Amino acid sequence: MSHPEITNRWSLQGTTALVTGGTKGIGYAVVEELAALGACVHTCARSQGQIDACLRQWKERGLKVSGSVCDVSSQADREKLIKEVSSLFGGKLNILINNAGTNVYKPTLEYTAEDFSFMMNTNLQSAFHLSQLAHPLLKASGAGRIVFMSSICSVTSVNIGYPIYSASKGT
Ligand SMILES: NC(=O)c1ccc[n+]([C@@H]2O[C@H](COP(=O)([O-])OP(=O)(O)OC[C@H]3O[C@@H](n4cnc5c(N)ncnc54)[C@H](OP(=O)(O)O)[C@@H]3O)[C@@H](O)[C@H]2O)c1
Repeated sequence: MSHPEITNRWSLQGTTALVTGGTKGIGYAVVEELAALGACVHTCARSQGQIDACLRQWKERGLKVSGSVCDVSSQADREKLIKEVSSLFGGKLNILINNAGTNVYKPTLEYTAEDFSFMMNTNLQSAFHLSQLAHPLLKASGAGRIVFMSSICSVTSVNIGYPIYSASKGT
């Protein structure tokens, strides 16, 4: 039986959120949860087709979610994304979830400089720069929060295929 005080305590009505990488996996679930709690959510990913498919599903469930293409490893895309979010949400953002992330699985000695840049840009630089860009919006909301999606790999050693990923996920 739900208690009204508890329901109210967990309501996100009237708040806004940006979730990067919301078309699959953890990001998809985070978008759904925030929207179900009443937040207006914007998400992004690299595939327009995937975004459209997800937006259709969320619309059918009555959830307030919008989406746009953004490759978070690109500085120009990040700047464009925050401009879109600012315009959508009247210059205010309550929650930034830096979720988009990736890994390239290889034996350590086979990694290239391009692999290193790709993972560091996607996982670490994107989160840092998006947080900088979103700062004025988070401040304007009066109650801004940033979540970084880390990994157990950043605190303990795991099998091969994670050396750069682990560094990019440092807590
Ligand atoms: N799964 C796990 O066990 C686990 C454990 C610890 C931490 N994490 C972290 O949790 C986060 C989500 O993981 P996941 O397993 O849910 O990932 P996933 O299923 O592979 O989904 C990744 C999401 O991010 C998007 N994405 C990937 N690269 C992107 C880019 N450059 N720009 C914009 N969007 C991008 C993907 O869409 P597109 O491909 O269309 O762009 C997709 O929507 C990651 O940061 C990951 O490191 C995951």
